[in-house]
Amino acid sequence: MNLQPSGARYSRITGTGSHLPPRRLSNADMVDMLAQRDIETSNEWIVERTGIQARHFAAEGVNSSDLALIASQAALASAGRTAADVDLIIVATSTPDMVFPSTACILQHKLGVHGCPAFDLQAVCSGFVYALSVADAMVRGGSARCALIVGAEVFSRILDFNDRTTCVLFGDGAGAVILEASDEPGILATDLHADGRHVGVLCTPGTVSGGHVLGDPLLKMDGPAVFKLAVGVLDSAARAVLAKAGRTEADVDWLIPHQANIRIMHSTARKLKLPLEKLIATVHEHGNTSAASVPLALDEAVRSGRVKRGDTVLLEGVGGGFTWGAALLDF
Ligand code: ACO
Repeated sequence: MNLQPSGARYSRITGTGSHLPPRRLSNADMVDMLAQRDIETSNEWIVERTGIQARHFAAEGVNSSDLALIASQAALASAGRTAADVDLIIVATSTPDMVFPSTACILQHKLGVHGCPAFDLQAVCSGFVYALSVADAMVRGGSARCALIVGAEVFSRILDFNDRTTCVLFGDGAGAVILEASDEPGILATDLHADGRHVGVLCTPGTVSGGHVLGDPLLKMDGPAVFKLAVGVLDSAARAVLAKAGRTEADVDWLIPHQANIRIMHSTARKLKLPLEKLIATVHEHGNTSAASVPLALDEAVRSGRVKRGDTVLLEGVGGGFTWGAALLDF
């Protein structure tokens, strides 16, 4: 292993990976599924309002850690590392395998290693950007040199298939990166926020108590309220992270925002005066995969040859909490 000494000036992404479960549901499949419950939706409505054409659902018995494992193995291979090199594991998820232990500990076991710190981070759709920021601080602080950061979700498990306003929007998947200590930039700046006044606009309010599920364990969202909040905070977080890094919009080669709705993504790009050619969009094929959406889109952009070494990339997350944040990096 040829790692920089801990306490390096920067952390840098050295590998990416992702995984989508094989079961793909087109909008036509969702129309059929909902029709069986006498609920009407249409391909036209879903595409026009969200840009989504398909999503992937994990098979029964396949959990977030299973998707995370495949994404992690791909990220390790692309970084030229093995699981034994990893000295920190963070899994961003709102759909953990169990109440406890963490999905990160389960993933560590499935990777066949032990000993390094492993924990989950819960910031819903902002989870990956939050996790990247935490790992960046730990790497620069010297407590990790080779971090595995994963966003992994099985949102299909918490969808209410009687609620057409939410169940057509989400999908399952995982994305991962390897973040290593480096003397070359790297993560340039991060900017994280939360506003708990908006807990109710997007939540899965159920919990486990006394051996029962207490409250409703299915996702609730006030879509228009989330839409309005998202458009505002994605713009402010982008500007804040650029200012922190001493860069401007003109320096951004690629914008990779949370993949929830193409209209929110276009609005973010327009406000930043970025041409749509610089926007990485996978929402049409993935739906909203919550914490997995940003690393899934990043990996797809890297593997398709769009994001290259040295490119400046702006990542943005927004979601339940309300949480939001951005990370600017030289890839
Ligand atoms: N099929 C057909 N019609 C539908 C559907 C559907 N699947 N869903 C809603 N409609 C109808 C509504 O009933 C409503 O009909 P009405 O006017 O007769 O009452 C009409 O379409 C418009 O509904 P709105 O909710 O106002 O539609 P809107 O244009 O706001 O789009 C959407 C809804 C797509 C949810 C949008 O608000 C959105 O994307 N919000 C943001 C979601 C987001 O960004 N989430 C990110 C975080 S996710 C996380 O953290 C887990």
